[in-house]
Amino acid sequence: MQPKVRKAVFPAAGLGTRFLPATKAQPKEMLPLVDKPLIQYGVEEAVHSGVQNIIIVTGRGKSAIEDHFDVSFELENLLESRGKKDLLAAVRGVSDLIDVCYVRQKEALGLGHAVLRARELVGPEPFAVVLSDDVIDAETPCLRQLLDIYEFFNAPVIAVMEVPPERASAYGIVDAEPITHNGARDRLFRIRDMVEKPRPEDAPSNLAIIGRYVLTPEIFDSLAAIDPGRGGEIQLTDGLKHLLRRRPIYAYRFEGSRYDAGDKLGFLMATVEFALRRRDLGAEFREYLQSLHLDGGQ
Ligand code: G1P
Repeated sequence: MQPKVRKAVFPAAGLGTRFLPATKAQPKEMLPLVDKPLIQYGVEEAVHSGVQNIIIVTGRGKSAIEDHFDVSFELENLLESRGKKDLLAAVRGVSDLIDVCYVRQKEALGLGHAVLRARELVGPEPFAVVLSDDVIDAETPCLRQLLDIYEFFNAPVIAVMEVPPERASAYGIVDAEPITHNGARDRLFRIRDMVEKPRPEDAPSNLAIIGRYVLTPEIFDSLAAIDPGRGGEIQLTDGLKHLLRRRPIYAYRFEGSRYDAGDKLGFLMATVEFALRRRDLGAEFREYLQSLHLDGGQ
């Protein structure tokens, strides 16, 4: 049997330029969707998928992330003395979630470089990568869906979704051949090739890579071997393309909705939809939205 995936790497050293000025002095991973920071959604997804250790790749100005997953004695004492049990449970819940360790990416040299920084902490075992900008709402957590494929094929697998052709240049795009799995032929693909952020006319398909990966440790040798690619950065997509020469890699069109919360519009959409689904806020928020009479052209 193949080794179990115990660890998930969260690259979080990016500068968050798409969200300036909010991210000037605050990590984009800490932007709240309703009342939870973005990165917590990803960490909870990993925990619910069976991951036991989180490795966050941070950079300068990211200490709020470390504080968030740490115990806050002052806050807990205050909430306890005021009898705020629900809030106390919410605050404790974050630090009790899972063990987190940190490694620094000293220079912003790309996603592949960030993953390579986790090499020592991951060691010689398979692992997951979660990009917390991609918030995924799914009945079965997206990462769990990928882990099921990994466990079946004992091979790396990455999440993909269909995107309109004109959006290809915002993603890694795969060239892939459908494979019948569990009686269906529209979810699982064997990757033939992949390219990071192609021009729409050069995109080999409309299947875009979304920020969930299950990888095997050989990816580290590939990442160490490749040259900088798009934007002068070490790209994870290029590392995977290099690894393709040595072993098969699969793509899985996951079930669920993905929000690009690193983008202002995607972030707003996620905020509205997550707020509408909240038991404590949803009804009132819906009423408020309806009162706006948006079809009246406001
Ligand atoms: C990264 C990856 C890209 C992938 C995207 C998904 O790009 O490099 O292949 O499609 O995440 O969100 P970024 O959005 O960080 O530029």
